[in-house]
Amino acid sequence: MWKKYFPALSDNQLTYLDSASTCQAPATVIHAISDYLQAGHASPDRGMHALSENADAIYQRTKRKLANWFNCQDQQLVYTRGTTESINIVANSLRDIIKPEQSILVTQMEHHSNLLPWQRLCQQTGARLNLLKITSDKELNISHLEQLLSDNCALVALTHCSNVLGTLNPVKQIISTARHYNVATMIDGTQAVAHLKPDLKQLDCDYYAFSGHKVYAPGGTGILYCKRPQSISPLLLGGGIVNRVTDNHFQLTSDISRLEAGSHDMCGIVALESAFNFIDMLGIDNISAHESKLMKQLKTEINQRDYTVISHPESQSILSLVSKQFHSHDIASVLASNNIATRAGHACAQPCLSALGYKHCVRVSVGLYNTEEDNMNFLNALDKVKYHLC
Ligand SMILES: Cc1ncc(COP(=O)(O)O)c(C=O)c1O
Repeated sequence: MWKKYFPALSDNQLTYLDSASTCQAPATVIHAISDYLQAGHASPDRGMHALSENADAIYQRTKRKLANWFNCQDQQLVYTRGTTESINIVANSLRDIIKPEQSILVTQMEHHSNLLPWQRLCQQTGARLNLLKITSDKELNISHLEQLLSDNCALVALTHCSNVLGTLNPVKQIISTARHYNVATMIDGTQAVAHLKPDLKQLDCDYYAFSGHKVYAPGGTGILYCKRPQSISPLLLGGGIVNRVTDNHFQLTSDISRLEAGSHDMCGIVALESAFNFIDMLGIDNISAHESKLMKQLKTEINQRDYTVISHPESQSILSLVSKQFHSHDIASVLASNNIATRAGHACAQPCLSALGYKHCVRVSVGLYNTEEDNMNFLNALDKVKYHLC
């Protein structure tokens, strides 16, 4: 129904079921980037000429759009290169604050991007890294949460939605419990924002991050929300972030610009605005309902086949499966030779898979452009796997 908006998919040659890795871009996003470059591009706020003023207007407008979308203030949003950079910014700025007697709490469900920076922070500071485990129901073991938060915990970092299991975590409940223990919260929203609309004021987390390429914009773009931007120090130093520099000293600006050193990725910013306008136009609730319907159909069909579904039964956009007979890479290769794009391997979440007793899986993930026909193409190709591999 919405596939026609996506040039890379509109000829129906490819069945793309790998949106949890990267979403395809709609024509509106592609055209917005090309129109911007065509009209002439510049750095925002760095020159006294029309192109620079235009870039500045786009920079401000996009932040306002996003602030509106997420119910926060534009002064709380930092343009980054994606979730990985966003989380590293937060972890890096805690390096001089965390004490050896404190702890950081992560979950077993994390993408490596929301695990490695915290592992390193603990190595650097001597703090303990505690782990909230996964239950056999593919959910977080919330019954241990308070015990771990009360272990002199400074911050809890967790994913809004698991990139392997599709589990939608009860982030509001976890954030509010963490607040009760005076613990800061970092939410990795990467797998959530294309499927739901987080209200950051209501969630009341300290940090929230997502990447543009998971919401129909290009890679290398992202947003970090900071409830109190003053709590964060810059990861990068350079142009655009200072009031005054002398031979031996610099004084950072007090606003959010101090976290955005260097020239901005204006094409990325243009694309982010356009991608959110596109999602807005279709309606996030319509997108979510459409994806849920596709997922339901997929699950019913897979349950009649010789595969084990390892994702959460309520997952809205991700279906991960394993086979007793075949390696996930071999399955994905047969699928790829039938023009079906999926993801196979550990999906950068090794502790998550290990906790459930697996090393790898095939991950099928839907985006707003997918159709029932895509589901059938996938299932027909999956049925051929045994003939190719036996
Ligand atoms: C849950 C989650 N967090 C973080 C990331 C890292 O995102 P990026 O590579 O865009 O920084 C991903 C990417 O797949 C993810 O799924």
